Amino acid sequence: MSGKWTLDELTPGRTVEATFWPNTSEDSPFRLRATHLDRRRAPKVVLTNDERVLAGIPCLVKVVAVHKPERDDRGRIEVEYVGPAPFRLEGVYLDPLVAKKLQVLLESGLNILLDGPQGCGKTVLARAIADGLGMVFVFFNCGAVVEASDFLVSIQVRASSSGAPVTDFVKTEVLIALEEAADHPERRYLVFLDELNRCQESARNALMPALDATRRVFHPIDNTFIPIPDNVQFIAAVNRGREFTGTFGIDAAQLDRFAPLQMTYPPPPAEVEILARRHPTISAGNLEIIVAVADAIRHAGELPGSLSVRATDEACIYLKHRLFADDGKRALPEILKTSFCGRFPGRWDDVTTDAGAVWAIVRKTLSSHKVPLAEDEAVAPVAAPTT
Ligand SMILES: Nc1ncnc2c1ncn2[C@@H]1O[C@H](COP(=O)(O)OP(=O)(O)OP(=O)(O)O)[C@@H](O)[C@H]1O
Ligand SMILES: [Mg+2]
Repeated sequence: MSGKWTLDELTPGRTVEATFWPNTSEDSPFRLRATHLDRRRAPKVVLTNDERVLAGIPCLVKVVAVHKPERDDRGRIEVEYVGPAPFRLEGVYLDPLVAKKLQVLLESGLNILLDGPQGCGKTVLARAIADGLGMVFVFFNCGAVVEASDFLVSIQVRASSSGAPVTDFVKTEVLIALEEAADHPERRYLVFLDELNRCQESARNALMPALDATRRVFHPIDNTFIPIPDNVQFIAAVNRGREFTGTFGIDAAQLDRFAPLQMTYPPPPAEVEILARRHPTISAGNLEIIVAVADAIRHAGELPGSLSVRATDEACIYLKHRLFADDGKRALPEILKTSFCGRFPGRWDDVTTDAGAVWAIVRKTLSSHKVPLAEDEAVAPVAAPTT
């Protein structure tokens, strides 16, 4: 169900989920207000004074009374606390233990550092947290940050009407969010700093006061320090691994300002489920084979890097396309040659390269799943005999 609730549906006793914020209306005796119930807009403002309801933390509440039901422009829905809301992250697999830790960190408002290999779901998780908790999601990629001010402004040069160059300071999404958050204490902002390990160390250092107890940053346009409002939560992602070039290690003092959470790839059955939701026309058997091959590659320790869920997703896009779908699983060797081997250096038919090593794993795993391989693919390429 979606859209706006009707008053008939919100009978006293009905239990719904809501997130409350401080009620800024001066003439109201109620401390907290909400506008949505079960993520649907309520027909009147929802108010409570229940001490157990905490601002910003989703909870289950029970409708106690609807005041002035006959008036469209007045009245209120009064509710009382029932219990904590179930923690939900739609469409994202998260290890149950990591999910528990995440809930604790989010409730305590600590900065969180998601640490996991390429394509294991760090970005989708951050987005799902924002969606699930009704927060405004602010995505910022730190890869291009060279100087501290790059977090907050980008400098753009344009020609003026006379043709002379003019320098404009353009606010980044982060600065816009910090300013908006100060103006809107009833909203919560999740600022996601993606690839934090890729920006220059000195720039990262300058961000540190924003992340610790001082919670302030230098506003390069106003030339002053501005406070980070309490309704802003930072989540950063790092992708540490041998495969990354040009990365800057995060030092201990910087790491200490975040609560780290280690992530890894979803276990095969969970990845099959993720793919099945996106590609319902592909058989469970074929999805299991694709994921089994990816899993074997991820566990081959000697490879420089890993295989993201983007790779298994891409293989599914090929497999379900009419140009490949008719071949069924016979199309898999050719598809995985491209989608899996193609993500590693070298060539699939050169056994001395990483792509060649991946191809050996692909072949072995496909054979064990009885996928037919072309004659020249079934055995490792060998040098032609010299006679
Ligand atoms: N745990 C997961 N649950 C659901 N989908 C996932 C998961 N992991 C990866 N995916 C899917 O794989 C793709 C890549 O995920 P995402 O961008 O979140 O990875 P990432 O860890 O942020 O990668 P990178 O390190 O490259 O930034 C997305 O399409 C996402 O939906
Ligand atoms: Mg990412």
